[in-house]
Amino acid sequence: FSVAAVVAALPAVILAEQRTSKHWELTGEGADIAERGSHEARVFGAIPKDGLLQTELMKLPSGRVGFSKAMSSKWIRMDKGHEGGPRVFRMVETIEDVVRQKLLLVRQGKSAELEEKDKNELKKRKLLTEVTVKSYWITKGGSFSTSITKQETELTAEMISSGSWRDKKFKLYNFDALGMALDCGHLHPLMKVRTQFRQIFLEMGFTEMPTNNFIESSFWNFDSLFQPQQHPARDQHDTFFLSDPALAHEFPQDYLEKVKKVHTEGGYGSQGYKYDWKLEEARKNVLRTHTTAVSARMLYRLAQQEEFTPVKYFSIDRVFRNETLDATHLAEFHQIEGVVADYGLTLGDLMGVLHQFFTKLGITKLRFKPAYNPYTEPSMEVFSFHEGLKKWVEVGNSGIFRPEMLLPMGLPEGVTVIAWGLSLERPTMIKYGINNIRELVGHKVNLQMVYDSPLCRLDS
Ligand code: PHE
Repeated sequence: FSVAAVVAALPAVILAEQRTSKHWELTGEGADIAERGSHEARVFGAIPKDGLLQTELMKLPSGRVGFSKAMSSKWIRMDKGHEGGPRVFRMVETIEDVVRQKLLLVRQGKSAELEEKDKNELKKRKLLTEVTVKSYWITKGGSFSTSITKQETELTAEMISSGSWRDKKFKLYNFDALGMALDCGHLHPLMKVRTQFRQIFLEMGFTEMPTNNFIESSFWNFDSLFQPQQHPARDQHDTFFLSDPALAHEFPQDYLEKVKKVHTEGGYGSQGYKYDWKLEEARKNVLRTHTTAVSARMLYRLAQQEEFTPVKYFSIDRVFRNETLDATHLAEFHQIEGVVADYGLTLGDLMGVLHQFFTKLGITKLRFKPAYNPYTEPSMEVFSFHEGLKKWVEVGNSGIFRPEMLLPMGLPEGVTVIAWGLSLERPTMIKYGINNIRELVGHKVNLQMVYDSPLCRLDS
């Protein structure tokens, strides 16, 4: 800890005044010269009566610096006309080593006796340095004491009744102190990202579908979507079936008949799948494998209207698949789904609405790749160019719902329904830099991550 910090913490106990003073000190080389003489004096002392070869002189430790200084002080001279090279001779009998004398004054603490220009000259020669010393002048304060009494922070009933409060010292209130952070609820990152997606759909004029049923009959999850009963996705390995209640009971009877017919014999210009459609299979309850089951229910409801009106629907909710768990897959995740129904919509409308939707997410470079879904034709996977990864990554799935799905519901001919879907987890993991889905969902989630994660802004 520093003196300043201690002083600041004990304001009334002691008073402190900061003082600075400056003085001169010898450097290492300066101390050496004060001890043994300047380089030029050492050179002078090294030259005998009959002189010294210059080459020999230069070999002395002080030779180079001392030679030129002694020459300019006219203490020595050089004679060139000699055997073996130039020779150096003394020019005077005695010398006065002024540099050493000045440094000795400083060593004795008498630097005040030197002139300012001398000191600066010696400083330039790196023989002196000026040192600044900061110190505190400490005196007793008003509340000076050698024992520290702890100040009371609370006036208790006991202090009042006994009167002991009179002898106590109370701590002053600190109105600038921040209170303790309140413990409050925190939104999970998935919910923060969901809020942003919901906002985007609402800006685009979409209405949210009711997705509050995790359990769905195979009929709405698969059959109404023209997904054949032998389709591999209906296998135990991909779908969770319910054991209790295992079967659903209520279906719109005439619609169910039309679904059965389109699967077995076709119709509406389709050949159907030509297999023996079984009600037993359609009644099996499952954990919904996609929110497209909800879209199917909503489109059926729309078809029951007296007169068709165009709609834009969306949903963001949980779906379940019997997946092998790994770093990026869980048995449940969230789907984001958009559906638009109107007369005469084309693939161009689908691409346009996808462009608009993804632009609002900050994703502008899109590519479409032909794909397959039992309920859409044509179908397209959506790819976007990931600037960080420098490659195209899949961001969604889309398509135009088949007539075999829409016409049995009773939607008018000429009405097209375009739709797309994506997962909520993927953009959330990218946005929050989470690599393993188990750090986002499940019992291994670090709650501090949930508390600390900021609001989501998808467009920045
Ligand atoms: N239901 C599809 C899926 O599970 C997504 C999708 C929705 C595809 C709508 C096309 C149209 O991936």
